[in-house]
Amino acid sequence: MNVLLDAETIQSRVKELAAEIERDYPEGEEIHFVCVLKGGFMFMSDLVRAMSHRVSLDFIAVSSYAKSTKSSGEVRMLKDLDYGLQGRHTIIVEDIVDTGLTLTYLQEILRARSPKSLKTACLLSKPSRRQVDVAVEYIGFTIEDRFVVGYGLDYAEQYRNLPYIAILDGQ
Ligand code: IMP
Ligand code: MG
Repeated sequence: MNVLLDAETIQSRVKELAAEIERDYPEGEEIHFVCVLKGGFMFMSDLVRAMSHRVSLDFIAVSSYAKSTKSSGEVRMLKDLDYGLQGRHTIIVEDIVDTGLTLTYLQEILRARSPKSLKTACLLSKPSRRQVDVAVEYIGFTIEDRFVVGYGLDYAEQYRNLPYIAILDGQ
């Protein structure tokens, strides 16, 4: 597999994003992170470890892919949040924005729960594949239209544990 982003590059960008997020929220205000499982787990854990703000965490799981490398356009809720969002500064943490369908769905259902504010952080973005114009305030890296794995991202549940991001063979 071809390494696209090595561990060091990812770590330093994640620290930059954490600093940027902290600058955007008043000190003392708690930031509530909603990790989109499973892909967002590694990004979120590094992101919040790099922050000194008060944070709280919750997890949501949706599925838009079967075993395919192309988005089906269908979003299914697999696990809802444990807590409400009312009055919370909420940031959705996702691995990648591709067509934008998953995030559009998530933003819609979470906005309906009256968060104090709602923003989105994505480690990766593939703008050339976008089908809907979705707002993502924090983006780690913009990449070409290649199927990537590692650092949370999978192909058929494989490779999520890699500390770097690689282009899947044959892609
Ligand atoms: P979207 O709804 O098309 O934006 O798809 C977003 C979801 O598709 C992400 O949360 C990933 O789970 C998955 N996805 C999109 N591109 C890739 C990729 O290159 N590698 C692994 N998963 C991907
Ligand atoms: Mg995902």
